[in-house]
Amino acid sequence: MSLSRRNQLKSLLLLIGQVWLEKEAKEAEEEKMKHMEENCPPLSIPGCMQELQELCRKLHKQIDLVDDERYDMELKVNKTNKEIDDLKVKIQDLNGKFKKPALKKVRMSADALLAALLGSKHKVSMDLRANLKQVKKEVKEEEKQTGDWRKNIEDKAGMGGRKKMFETEA
Ligand SMILES: *[C@@H]1O[C@H](CO)[C@@H](O)[C@H](O)[C@H]1NC(C)=O
Repeated sequence: MSLSRRNQLKSLLLLIGQVWLEKEAKEAEEEKMKHMEENCPPLSIPGCMQELQELCRKLHKQIDLVDDERYDMELKVNKTNKEIDDLKVKIQDLNGKFKKPALKKVRMSADALLAALLGSKHKVSMDLRANLKQVKKEVKEEEKQTGDWRKNIEDKAGMGGRKKMFETEA
């Protein structure tokens, strides 16, 4: 991907992110207004002392209640934040442990690959696919004969086993 194309995509993603953030902020504001309308009716201040005291007591109670709720929510938020931090640490650890190996693309013909795997002295020049099919078929037939693939698996496993098969073929 060219540098200009990459920068173009990056700007596009940033723009989309910005639009989303703005939309989110607008929705949060609308929700807040809705909540206030539903839960906070306009205050009418009574004229007489007794009613005023009553109102103060009521408001005091409500403040206590809301503060309890706020405390519970803060606890939840703190707990979740701690979980997020722990997960971030885990991600860092994992990134450190599993460094993606720098793999190189190998362009090789089937023959060159076989020669590299088996050594050039074998001079194998068969079609790789046909060869692999052939090997699979042989394994199946041997399975039938022995009835237990486990008996053969060690011989077949790894490059040594493959090599043996190719050598007997070639
Ligand atoms: C939540 O965390 C903040 C900052 O770490 C702290 O000041 C606050 O007391 C905590 N709240 C609760 C309810 O534990």
